[in-house]
Amino acid sequence: MTPWIACDCEGVPVARRVCGRPAALKLWQNNPNSRWHGKSEREGGMKTSKVTIHTLKAMKERGDRIAMLTAYDATFARLLDDSQIDILLIGDSLGMVIQGQETTLPVTLDEVIYHTRAVVRGTRRAQVVGDMPFMSYQSSIENALENAGRLIKEGGCHAVKLEGGAQHTELVTRLVACGIPVMGHIGLTPQSFHQMGGFKVQGRGHGEADRLVADARALEEAGVYSIVLEGIPAEIAQRITESVAVPTIGIGAGPHCDGQVLVIYDLLGMNDAFKPKFVRRYEHLATRIRTAVDSYITDVRSGGFPSEQETFFLAPKRPSNQKQVPANVSALSLAGVCQPEPGDANPATREVDNLPGELAGFYSSVNK
Ligand code: KIV
Repeated sequence: MTPWIACDCEGVPVARRVCGRPAALKLWQNNPNSRWHGKSEREGGMKTSKVTIHTLKAMKERGDRIAMLTAYDATFARLLDDSQIDILLIGDSLGMVIQGQETTLPVTLDEVIYHTRAVVRGTRRAQVVGDMPFMSYQSSIENALENAGRLIKEGGCHAVKLEGGAQHTELVTRLVACGIPVMGHIGLTPQSFHQMGGFKVQGRGHGEADRLVADARALEEAGVYSIVLEGIPAEIAQRITESVAVPTIGIGAGPHCDGQVLVIYDLLGMNDAFKPKFVRRYEHLATRIRTAVDSYITDVRSGGFPSEQETFFLAPKRPSNQKQVPANVSALSLAGVCQPEPGDANPATREVDNLPGELAGFYSSVNK
């Protein structure tokens, strides 16, 4: 039987628009009679439609806000995807938050591809966007096409993002003609760190607002499906959002954009030395991680970890008249990979009590 859920024409579950979550899925998961009881989507509970460039366009048309975050590995991707994030960006911000660099400039295409692969493996529903790093698209159109192609082919992402406005219209047109969806990025463009004189809000100077609006329109005309607006006054972001049909995604660009993006480490408060005005911390993980690790170190040093619960033991010695382990006990059964069913004819599951002490202890502990 195929699970059913009411979807609109873009495949967005209708219930999601009402309460922000696929409510029908939750009902099934909570119903003990349902075959999806207790199962997340990832565990085969239900299929949801993938977010595509068409989903995002339809969201703007309906006035549904788009939620985007950065991700750099499969574990975070899985968690964010389970939360129904719309877009995951493997940003070149990885240079700063993963590699500890001062800027995004040293990040290489191979590094973005490496992290993109990991994120793609952890993602089922969200659109995955790979960032084109500094100098992977500026030197020539041919080189940029080749590099964007590598991000899609080797990284497995669904779209690429590049920084800059009207100067990239020809490149955007060529990429789109190759079938590669492109996300633009204007305003504070971190790859122009030295040109900007630092990470500074853009668009406050004379004539800059008009230039930013013109950049957004030029990118739209060239074929981008979405534009990131970073570090610009809210009034300009609103003007741009109202001037283009493609969704705008803001970061430090006020509330009027069609969506918002944050670096996941900033949202989680992983760096307590960094809190720019535009970031909202939803957690203070830096403090919590330190507390957890302090406790671990204390336990190790005091001998409190591992405890009996966290330790394997030999099974007690058996009387010598016990049966031998049958020859056909499989390694998988011993390791607990094959779960015993009631009445299972597999001797490995029936005769576990007869296993030599060490194996029996291991078998019973992996099954706990
Ligand atoms: O590199 C990045 O993470 C980004 C986002 C902040 C938009 O470009």
